[in-house]
Amino acid sequence: MGTYKPSVAQQLGELSEKFQEIGQPLEHQLEGLVHAKPINYWDYIQTDALLNLQVQRTILPDEMVFIMYHQINELLFKMILWELQQIADVEVLKTAFFTSKLGRISRYFDMLTASFTIMGEGMDMEQYLKFRRTLSPASGFQSAQYRQIEFASTELINLIDNRFRKDFSEKFAREQRWEDVFYDEAFEHLYWQAAGKDFSTGKKTYTLQEFEQKYKGSLLRYIKTFKNVNLYSKFRTLPQEAQQDPQLQAAMRHYDHTVNIKWVMAHYGAARHYLSQGKKPLEATGGSEWTKYMHPKYQKRVFFPSLWSAEELENWGKEV
Ligand code: HEM
Repeated sequence: MGTYKPSVAQQLGELSEKFQEIGQPLEHQLEGLVHAKPINYWDYIQTDALLNLQVQRTILPDEMVFIMYHQINELLFKMILWELQQIADVEVLKTAFFTSKLGRISRYFDMLTASFTIMGEGMDMEQYLKFRRTLSPASGFQSAQYRQIEFASTELINLIDNRFRKDFSEKFAREQRWEDVFYDEAFEHLYWQAAGKDFSTGKKTYTLQEFEQKYKGSLLRYIKTFKNVNLYSKFRTLPQEAQQDPQLQAAMRHYDHTVNIKWVMAHYGAARHYLSQGKKPLEATGGSEWTKYMHPKYQKRVFFPSLWSAEELENWGKEV
């Protein structure tokens, strides 16, 4: 029996305490380790599972590009949400931590924006126009993670349809206690309802109905959870001096601009490329009036309005 370094003896002591807390003898755990199989890269990264998730509906090879790029987007959305959750969970927010987390989130979105040409230029037009027929009525519009990113980034008022924002702003200010029906009313007036709802009749497209059937309940819970811990609310909890920090302000503005103008325009550019070939724009798979709906100057989605001048807000999305 050899002797152990003092650090190993200390680790054994710590392990013993850890397992005692859950009523497990340390010997059993150590014996388990004796027989454990060393881990491989593919076990840890779950490559087999991951690489089995790409299933085409057609025989057209470029459909694979479309599926995989969407999956990559969803993975990056998950990374973004992971960071947003950590910011939300911090009780006492420090400026440097906030700035560095915003940097991480922005890097992911920069990556998504810069790579969007994979959609715009990376697929054969004829193939795209064929395989998209098999997708209808599905649409990226039904990405729940994308909606979560929005709810975790800003206050609900900034996601209300621009046409109703003033009314809701007054309602939000009046309301002391937000009841469920109040959240529901706000949900029905989110900017993206315009892609699938006729506001004069209340009728919704199948794409929107299905999305709500699956996600409305969980999204409403998510909205409530992030009501006071979204990025914008968190920013406002910082002392005035910290809110004026130039690096933090630059990070906030960069994120807002990247998500709500650069990404939106890259996406709109891809849609225009494939769907505006002839004189009349093709109908979108999700059925929206996309030529108007998708442009940032109509949506006027701004996560952090107080960080922009009145002129910048007025010209939101117009410069592109
Ligand atoms: C050739 C590629 C693409 C085209 C032509 C396209 C087209 C469209 C269109 C027309 C809409 C409006 C809703 C509808 O009527 O369907 C939409 C919404 C949306 N798409 Fe895409 N899309 C493409 C790629 C992507 C990718 C790669 C993602 C990443 C997940 C994505 C995510 C979204 C999201 C989140 C929305 C809702 C955006 C909003 O409400 O402003 N799309 N897309």
